[in-house]
Amino acid sequence: MGPMKMELQTFDYPKLITPTGKKAEHGAILKIVTTNICGSDQHIYRGRFAAPKGMVMGHEMTGEVIEVGKGVEYIKVGDLCSVPFNVSCGRCRNCKERHTDVCMNVNDAVDCGAYGFNLGGWQGGQSDYLMVPYADWNLLPFPDKDQAMEKIRDLTLLSDILPTGFHGLMEAGARVGSTVYIAGAGPVGRCAAAGARLIGASCIIVADSNRERLDLVKNNGCEIVDLTSDTPVPDQIEAILGKREVDCGVDCVGLEAHGSGPEANNEHSEAVINTLIQPVGAPSIVSNLRSRWLLRCLASHACPRAFRGDWTSNHRGL
Ligand SMILES: NC(=O)c1ccc[n+]([C@@H]2O[C@H](COP(=O)([O-])OP(=O)(O)OC[C@H]3O[C@@H](n4cnc5c(N)ncnc54)[C@H](O)[C@@H]3O)[C@@H](O)[C@H]2O)c1
Ligand SMILES: [Zn+2]
Ligand SMILES: [Zn+2]
Repeated sequence: MGPMKMELQTFDYPKLITPTGKKAEHGAILKIVTTNICGSDQHIYRGRFAAPKGMVMGHEMTGEVIEVGKGVEYIKVGDLCSVPFNVSCGRCRNCKERHTDVCMNVNDAVDCGAYGFNLGGWQGGQSDYLMVPYADWNLLPFPDKDQAMEKIRDLTLLSDILPTGFHGLMEAGARVGSTVYIAGAGPVGRCAAAGARLIGASCIIVADSNRERLDLVKNNGCEIVDLTSDTPVPDQIEAILGKREVDCGVDCVGLEAHGSGPEANNEHSEAVINTLIQPVGAPSIVSNLRSRWLLRCLASHACPRAFRGDWTSNHRGL
């Protein structure tokens, strides 16, 4: 409807037709089983990203296939699948190079398509049904449906949040024994923290100003940096590690970042980068924002591809 104005509406059952009116012979229709509200949806809600009027929100879907187009070879009716939030074709140069976030065939205006965004007119999945145009390429079927349903709330994180946090860690060069600073204790930050635990980071420090979120990560064994404190972040890091540096940092805040100390409630878009300059090293930030020391691409929606790509390929035995 518009910024701060969303409502539940009844839509027709989707057809296997693209937003530009072509037949989606390689597409499938899913009945949604689970979905999430993402921090990115909140940017749209608050009017920070444009969205077409009447668009269905949502890009984090898990669903059961109930219809497939004539050209679908491997995905079957009845498959329970995770859907990545970028729409991509699997055929263009960018997709072949695994840059599925900048697919060249799914949006006439710009090389990037996504469900529930102003990116190609693809309807989102916070609804009963979703049309996925390239089913064999875009859907990740769970091998054992009953087993998957037992953990469906966890597996729902596979569509966007978990791979985003994990990809951030990989891009930042986190590895066994690393000390890691994670900016943001939202779902992406908490998934990055879980990923850091999985790969054997020696110390995981999560920063936020939200007390409840900090308590969650603390209860999971992470160290915390409280941005409402007047103690500067490097001092808080030193109190934890005995030194003011970490091996790598991941920005899990993106758009709408807040400052720290007396500025903790005010928006400062560069706050995360500025905070990280000392603990992760200034030269690498200045010269290359996507350096191995610091990743700042979460809000650019470029993240899930690496993890999902690997996982999907392995899953199919390719
Ligand atoms: N694929 C992708 O690229 C992708 C996927 C998911 C989310 N995102 C983006 O990632 C970001 C995080 O997503 P989320 O769902 O966890 O959002 P969220 O809004 O739930 O969490 C963000 C957290 O960051 C905290 N924060 C604000 N300023 C901070 C600062 N300077 N330092 C540390 N913490 C600070 C907030 O208090 C909040 O708890 C959003 O911008 C979202 O759009 C990108
Ligand atoms: Zn998302
Ligand atoms: Zn493509």
